[in-house]
Amino acid sequence: MIIALDGPAGAGKSTIALQVAASLGFQLIDTGAIYRTVALKCKEGSFDLHDGQTCADIARDLDFSFEIQGDINQVFCNGEPVGDEIRTSEISLAASTVSAHQEVRAALLELQRTLGSAKDSVLEGRDIGTVVFPGAELKIFLTASAEERAERRVKQLAEKGIDESYDKVLQEIKERDHKDMTRDIAPLVAAPDAVTVDTTGRSIEDIVAQIVNLAPVQ
Ligand code: DC
Repeated sequence: MIIALDGPAGAGKSTIALQVAASLGFQLIDTGAIYRTVALKCKEGSFDLHDGQTCADIARDLDFSFEIQGDINQVFCNGEPVGDEIRTSEISLAASTVSAHQEVRAALLELQRTLGSAKDSVLEGRDIGTVVFPGAELKIFLTASAEERAERRVKQLAEKGIDESYDKVLQEIKERDHKDMTRDIAPLVAAPDAVTVDTTGRSIEDIVAQIVNLAPVQ
């Protein structure tokens, strides 16, 4: 069984996906982590991030697996654990560049399908319900207001000791939403048969329970 969990950054996807997967005993395929790791490998090898073919060649050489360990979803690339080095802002930016190449998306499409077909899976990303698994048994599109996502982001940054203004973060989120939703390649849109879940003002437990209830498992 495949559960597709798509939506913009800051909607609470990672936390919710982890709890849904853990509670159903499914593997969690964090497709953002795959794009991030490809970006990291390109950077480490000093390859040109703007060269789609080269980035796709790097992507094709990687294999991935995921294992839920307590409250983290451990990513393995070519058998080696991948850590927080894929979560830096430098790699966020690089992943955004790398993920815009059609060649990279094509290379990662088969990989994601193979991974997801092997076991019952939750896949979290942007285009799972629309492109990767259009036949997924359950599709969820998570959203939250731009204001709430900005608040969460400012709080997250503050926890890391980074002081960022709410207005600036809100402006960036709005710009990124517009870019993501209107780009030609894999725009961020809900699949027509996805259930849209707005997380604004709701608790994580409440949302996880709603999604688990929607999953067609015995
Ligand atoms: O969700 P995230 O921030 O970890 O994603 C990292 C980058 O990869 C981000 O720029 C969006 C992109 N991405 C994508 O294009 N398609 C996916 N299925 C998942 C992530």
